[in-house]
Amino acid sequence: MSYQSHYFKEVREAQRRSYSPYSNFKVGAYLKAKDGRTFYGTNVENAAYSMCICAERASLVAAISAGYQPGDFESITVTVDSEVPSSPCGECRQVLKELCDDDMPVYMTNHKGDMIESTVKELLPYGFSGKDLNK
Ligand code: THU
Repeated sequence: MSYQSHYFKEVREAQRRSYSPYSNFKVGAYLKAKDGRTFYGTNVENAAYSMCICAERASLVAAISAGYQPGDFESITVTVDSEVPSSPCGECRQVLKELCDDDMPVYMTNHKGDMIESTVKELLPYGFSGKDLNK
């Protein structure tokens, strides 16, 4: 499924909820399941910096906690306030690899409405997965 303009409105709402008093870098994620249900994620920071939770992972954790399973997801849209849309960090790419189809679209946007489209596999080629553990 391709990017739809309302994803932008939704992901910006997710971003608005960011708790990022340390970096002031607000990130929003909008995860869409194949059955149409959607989940917001935003970054949640902590005075112990290493405990910061990224928006992408927050949305996936919300979905799995609601009963969704790996492979149930159709797309994820991410937004930041940067000149060029930024892409998910390495840790989030690994979690996307675990829970989403390799060909799932990842839409990266910014405050200007620029959009870069990629996929889970493009973002993490040769990624480690359960297959490597013979699972
Ligand atoms: N952040 C995300 O939410 N997603 C990413 O993929 C990269 C970074 C957050 C973590 C932290 O709260 C802030 O952005 C600055 O790194």
